[in-house]
This record gives sequence, C-alpha cells and structure tokens, in this order.
Amino acid sequence: MKPTNMRIQIEKLQKSDIPDLVKYGNDRQIWLNVSDNYPYPYTFDDGLAFFEQSTDKHIFSIKNNDVFVGIIDLRPRYGIDRITAEIGYWVASEFAGQGIGTKAVELIVEYGFANIPELLKIYARVFHTNPASMRVLEKAGFVKEGVLKKSCIKENQIIDLHHFSIFRKD
Ligand SMILES: CC(C)(COP(=O)(O)OP(=O)(O)OC[C@H]1O[C@@H](n2cnc3c(N)ncnc32)[C@H](O)[C@@H]1OP(=O)(O)O)[C@@H](O)C(=O)NCCC(=O)NCCS
Repeated sequence: MKPTNMRIQIEKLQKSDIPDLVKYGNDRQIWLNVSDNYPYPYTFDDGLAFFEQSTDKHIFSIKNNDVFVGIIDLRPRYGIDRITAEIGYWVASEFAGQGIGTKAVELIVEYGFANIPELLKIYARVFHTNPASMRVLEKAGFVKEGVLKKSCIKENQIIDLHHFSIFRKD
C-alpha cells in the first residue's frame, strides 16, 4: 500500500549515497533486468566507480523524504539520434510497489524535456520478462511503440525488447 507521507525527488548522485547504493544495488533481481554492464555482486568499489563516472552524466538517486531508495538515469543519444534519450532505473526491492518507480520516471521525463532543448522523445527498453517495469512506464504516460524480437540475451535467455516512449508535448 502507498504510504501517504511520501515525497519522491530525484537528485544528483552524491558520494554519501554510495553505502545505500551498494546495499540496495547488490540485488540479483535488479541485475536480471538490466544490461550486463551492471555488476553483480555489487561491491563498494563498483559503487565508487559508478559515482565517479556519474559527475558529467544525467545520473540521479531517487529519494523518498531524503532517503535513498533507487537510481534513475537519462542517456541522450548522439549524431542523428540526438533528438532521443534512453532512461534506465531501479528501485530497492524493499520499497517496491509504492509508486516510487512511476514518480521517478515522471520526474526524469520532466527534467529531460526541460533541460535538453533538442530532445523530442524519451524511451525505455524493457525485457519481455519484466511486466512491473512496463506497468511503471504506462503509468508514467509512455506508450509501447513495438517489440523487437530476440534482441538480447540475459543469463542464457533470449529476450524480446519492448520499446516504450513518450514525446515532448509542445
Ligand atoms: C520495475 C521497478 C522499477 C518498479 O518500481 P516500483 O517502485 O515498484 O514501481 P511502482 O510502484 O511505481 O509500480 C509498479 C507497478 O508494477 C506492478 N507490478 C509489479 N509486479 C508485477 C508483475 N509481476 N506483473 C504485472 N505488474 C506488476 C505493480 O502492481 C504496480 O502497478 P499498479 O500501481 O498498477 O499496481 C522495480 O521493481 C525494479 O527496480 N526492478 C528491478 C530493476 C528493473 O526492472 N529496472 C527497470 C529496467 S527496464
């Protein structure tokens, strides 16, 4: 059930977030749903390296009442793809099901369109095995554009990628 006193914000990842990043990020269920660049097990050194390369990127911690509950990022594309950007995110399992993922996605969409003028479309690619993430995107106003069959492999399972997107409104 969703608590009534939630205040979800996204803020630039800070060095002080690393212990929580590592504590919650060291989760096989997260790893199973993201790219293989994401480490598992997730060590303190992984968290430190992630923080250090985050400074010039759109990488945010998700906070509820100033408490770390997850990570969300926006990756603008380049060249002919520069009107689009991809998002990725995770919410610590003990805080799941409270609307946090949905709110964080809404906030990063607002941030992206407000801060990157040429951005026309924000998208996410979701494994066919991840209905919770698809639901998050639908609740945040994304629409499924299509399914790219057999597009990647995770732990020896061939994955269909569901592409969701949202467009700049003006
Ligand atoms: C996916 C994830 C971000 C969801 O975060 P969250 O804070 O729980 O999301 P919300 O509470 O905003 O919404 C979750 C929705 O998924 C639904 N859901 C959960 N498990 C589900 C399932 N197995 N099948 C269908 N819907 C499911 C919930 O019921 C809820 O929908 P509702 O509000 O209509 O009831 C989180 O589980 C997570 O980090 N997963 C691992 C990493 C990951 O998958 N990242 C995304 C990669 S694309």
